[in-house]
Amino acid sequence: MDTLLIEGVARLAGDFHASGAKNAALPCLAATLLTSQPVRLRNVPALRDIRTMTALLAEMGARLVWDEATGTVDIDCSGVFRLEAPYDLVRTMRASVLCLGPLVARYGHARVSLPGGCAIGERPIDQHLAAVEALGARIDLSHGYVDARARRLVGARIPMEMVTVTGTMNAAMAATLARGESVIENAACEPEVVDLCDFLRAMGAEIEGDGSPTIHIQGCEELAGGEFPVMADRIEAGTYLIGCAMTGGRVCFTKEELRHLHLPLDLLTRAGVHVADEDEAWVVTGPERLTAVDVTTAPYPAFPTDLQAQWMAAMATADGVSVVREEVFENRFMHVSELLRMGADIRVDGSTAVVRGVPALSGAPVMATDLRASASLVLAGLIARGETRLSRIYHLDRGYERLEEKLAALGARVVREGS
Ligand code: EPZ
Repeated sequence: MDTLLIEGVARLAGDFHASGAKNAALPCLAATLLTSQPVRLRNVPALRDIRTMTALLAEMGARLVWDEATGTVDIDCSGVFRLEAPYDLVRTMRASVLCLGPLVARYGHARVSLPGGCAIGERPIDQHLAAVEALGARIDLSHGYVDARARRLVGARIPMEMVTVTGTMNAAMAATLARGESVIENAACEPEVVDLCDFLRAMGAEIEGDGSPTIHIQGCEELAGGEFPVMADRIEAGTYLIGCAMTGGRVCFTKEELRHLHLPLDLLTRAGVHVADEDEAWVVTGPERLTAVDVTTAPYPAFPTDLQAQWMAAMATADGVSVVREEVFENRFMHVSELLRMGADIRVDGSTAVVRGVPALSGAPVMATDLRASASLVLAGLIARGETRLSRIYHLDRGYERLEEKLAALGARVVREGS
């Protein structure tokens, strides 16, 4: 298993360019099941999770050509015959559940493995099932699989009991081919939901209100093909933004790539970061030492849970005490014990972590436990004295494209070692 060697102390400097967004590319790939026409997706990142999704679609019978160098995926689902997302793929990537809505809407049947537990929380899919059931599908659960059937879905009111990103996406995709109008209430407002709806509209769907808690969808008989550029990855950009701030760096970001990160930018400014407006870009300069600032995670536009671990790494050497509250997932503090190994001072009580900033961290062997926890350990390694050796980096490869290359381009010394 590969490990990553990170040499501290680094100061990030230069131009950053985001890759396409994992959490927008995955639903867009699943949505191609809604049409029998050819589709071209652009700006698709070369990530392990994308490989899993393309393998899943190919196993269903889709014809797919992925040019990783240009980030282009050409896909034709006219030959899909296997309406199943098998356990072997779903257990490696929960987002496979995004095939549920499109399959039952387009083919009247979907057999999807239940995802099971996850490092960051129980993560049930009851809202996904309730959404397709509200549209008239009959759901059977047996042998670890969801079996959903419907002659044709019928438009309906879909009240979400809690804000769920992929739950909203499944409901929206299913409703595009239902007879009549659907209304999703308490919908997730994440930019990735809007990007998916932009793609569905590009294929001919009638959708309004995405980006707000109420989404209206007028169902249609069929969708066309088309071409669509996946949005930039705001979580990847946010990770490098926090990296710049905590290393006292100076990095240039395009305004497009930071446009969904207003709150993290505001909080970083409060922590002492300077943001200069340079026409199409923001030049972000980190202070010698950040000032401690509290965060509480919640659905967009609040602070993203996918940046919580990175924020905690930044607060580990900030001046003062900060409180980090995780309100989206019940078990997303796995990075704490590894940061403690690097000399951080963090106390956890349930969903609250109190971070007492220390003068410096020291490099150490640490272990990745999930995607964003591993990103926080990379950032901690950049400011730690000496070498940090991060193992189980397959977690990182799920969501960060060409991480070592991008960090090296910003002046960091990061090397991957194969075993
Ligand atoms: C998406 O996961 C993202 N994944 C996650 O990113 C992200 O952390 C999360 O949204 C929140 O922003 C993808 O887009 C592929 P939720 P999702 O449903 O949709 C509970 C990353 O690091 N819930 O919004 O699975 C759930 O347990 C990943 O890139 C139910 O109880 O998250 C959680 O507590 C990690 N029942 C809360 O809602 C349901 O049916 C929010 O989860 C659905 C969700």
